[in-house]
Amino acid sequence: VQREMSNLPRVYVARQIPPEGLKILRESGQVQFELWDSDDVPVPRKELLQKVRGVDGLLCVLTEKIDAELLDAAGPNLKVLSTMSVGFDHLSLEELKKRGIRVGYTPDVLTDAVAELTVALLLTTSRRLIEATHEAKTGGWGTWRTLWLCGYELANSTVGILGLGRIGVAIAERLAPFKVKKFIYTDMAPRPELASAINAEYVSLDELAMQSDFLAVCCALTPETKEICNKDLFSKMKNTSIFINTSRGGVVNQEDLYEALSTGQIAAAGLDVTVPEPLPTSHPLFTQKNCVILPHIASASYTTRNAMSALAANNLLLGLRGEPMIKELKL
Ligand code: DGY
Repeated sequence: VQREMSNLPRVYVARQIPPEGLKILRESGQVQFELWDSDDVPVPRKELLQKVRGVDGLLCVLTEKIDAELLDAAGPNLKVLSTMSVGFDHLSLEELKKRGIRVGYTPDVLTDAVAELTVALLLTTSRRLIEATHEAKTGGWGTWRTLWLCGYELANSTVGILGLGRIGVAIAERLAPFKVKKFIYTDMAPRPELASAINAEYVSLDELAMQSDFLAVCCALTPETKEICNKDLFSKMKNTSIFINTSRGGVVNQEDLYEALSTGQIAAAGLDVTVPEPLPTSHPLFTQKNCVILPHIASASYTTRNAMSALAANNLLLGLRGEPMIKELKL
């Protein structure tokens, strides 16, 4: 959609985002924008590099790598980048900072949806729901059996959170009514304010691995957290424990996870995120019955995706006006 308009700031929207955000941009009268008019295929890199040339603002999602090459292609007009995501590992913050480009993102509005999905994935994994429905419809359902399809329950368990932020707290709040015995967490440093809301104890990464019956990864992907979930961690976990990741695939060493799952080092894993995405259907993790893999849908509710879209649009418009964004990353 090419808007032929005067000298309004030019914006490229690198994805057909949900309607609320597009409506805000259209009705603002503040920008002329061009849109990659598909949600099914990301804009090809080559096309993106061309389309950003000379723009004042760019709105993207997590499939666009925003690095030096792209920022150079955009040139010095680019003042604002708005990503429709809470994660920002696809952005080279250093390069953005160097160029004085302001960055908006979409925390908070997706916390409830992500926490809900994490609980759903945790229960699906621990109570073996995918295996169970498969057995029911493919003839595996014989007589009622005493230990068939048994899993692990939350009651009396210890739940560990790797990376305690808004989402980790929201997950713990939802799990508490399942009679969890204890919440523990680890992070770069204790986060007493967040932790006190859910009565969680700060422990080392090793302690987290050793004590958790359920280990939920909720941290951002950074150089410090890259593949933090590896052989070392899995080898310290109980063989009855469940590993859940709804953050980023890059925090996990997938070969090590496969090893841990296939040797019974841990009981099961539920993943909403992988490397790469999509995970090739031939990937060994898909062969493991005790591994539930979802296609990165944690924030995928209509309400949340529209809220993310609207927030991304508003961040962009505010940034272009030189005003504080609703949610701006400190660079
Ligand atoms: C994000 O926002 O970073 C999620 O991964 C998608 O909602």
